[in-house]
Amino acid sequence: MSTSSFARLPGFRDFPPEDLALRSHIMEAWRRVSRRYGFLEYDGPPLESLDLYVEKSGEEIVDQLYAFTDKGDREVTLRPEMTPSLARILGDRSRSMSKPIRWFSMPQLFRYERQQRGRLREHFQWNVDLVGEEGVAADAEVLAVAIDGLREFGLGASDFRARVSDRRVLRGLLATLGVAEDAQPAAFAVIDKLERMPRDKAEEALATGTGLDAAAAGHVLETVSSATLASLEDLVGSSESGADVQSLRDYVDALGAMGLGDFVEIDLTIVRGLAYYTGIVFELFDRKGELRAICGGGRYDRLLELVGGEPLPAVGFGMGDVVLGELLAERKLVPEFASTLDYFIVTVSWDLRSEALRVAHALRDKGHSVSYALREQGVGKQMKSASREGAREVLIVGPDELARGCVVARDMEVGTEREIELADLT
Ligand code: HAM
Repeated sequence: MSTSSFARLPGFRDFPPEDLALRSHIMEAWRRVSRRYGFLEYDGPPLESLDLYVEKSGEEIVDQLYAFTDKGDREVTLRPEMTPSLARILGDRSRSMSKPIRWFSMPQLFRYERQQRGRLREHFQWNVDLVGEEGVAADAEVLAVAIDGLREFGLGASDFRARVSDRRVLRGLLATLGVAEDAQPAAFAVIDKLERMPRDKAEEALATGTGLDAAAAGHVLETVSSATLASLEDLVGSSESGADVQSLRDYVDALGAMGLGDFVEIDLTIVRGLAYYTGIVFELFDRKGELRAICGGGRYDRLLELVGGEPLPAVGFGMGDVVLGELLAERKLVPEFASTLDYFIVTVSWDLRSEALRVAHALRDKGHSVSYALREQGVGKQMKSASREGAREVLIVGPDELARGCVVARDMEVGTEREIELADLT
């Protein structure tokens, strides 16, 4: 219970140092992996025009917007996702850029969600997007970044998996199974919720939405949820969607060649809620299936044009810090939080203060972290502060040593002491 009369808003987090340490740990890893793949970091404003999301993101996100009218009568919203902003930013400049464009970002995003495990009203999301390349090699590259983004924390194929689908292949499969073109959006909506719905309810919803009879609806759900590359090659390999199945095979092969095959599974029940995806889509989940998706993404070849920019194909993903933090905690992969300091300066008497400040500042100028007591204190109390602040070494400034031009340095871990010449420190 908060003792302050101002409570934190539900779904929002404070980040005291011990919690910020985990967020920084996550972001540093994300940044390292992005750079390893040649991606450049960008950002945009947290507030955007409302119409950037309406229609482009899909109903679910639009219902969750933190939207309001600003003092200039503009309809604005806190950003719920980064992809439309990326499309807008590139719209103004992509024509003069060489392709493909590899950009990443780590924005804080805001969605008024129903609070549940792994879902808050703000989160930080690593966005990695590759723009201007339509070949499946780009899709494979992007999923490899996401997988390596998790491997970077010490997670392996026994901890998580990527469930991969292709909206074009699913469309082709549904057509083969007798789902009419105009009934496909309804079928997509049911398949998207398949995991969260009892199978008989799903069959009923599919039959109602598509006009199929109960047996045919059951067959569709069974075929979609058990699809493999081989079954897809059999069922739709020779249809219009044959080329899409082949590119899905090439995609899986490319990830296999990178040594990441164990992480990848074909799963046509992955639809993705966002409206703009056009091709291969994927989500990363913990292996035990206990948590919500850690990451989601896919190809969106028409969004840039829709936002008024150059018509460029694009593929990317977003990975949130909330579910990832839970998975790391569960696997005991959260580094222990410890405050650390290079030096703590202990002054034997307050009149030696100027000398202590001179030493402290010289060390800070050299890039070391240094702290000391800000008021007169006994040596014992200062030593306690040094250990509480995690000092590696204590420098004791005393009259006898100063007279000899030295200070005493005590190693706080092993307890050994040595003298250091002041000239060497300053
Ligand atoms: P998304 O699936 O909406 O995709 O979000 C991606 C990830 O962000 C989710 O898998 C989840 O880990 C995290 N996330 C989303 N909402 C919340 C929430 N309320 N609380 C905590 N974590 C959350 C997108 O946003 C796409 N724009 C990703 C993308 C980038 N596609 C292409 N490029």
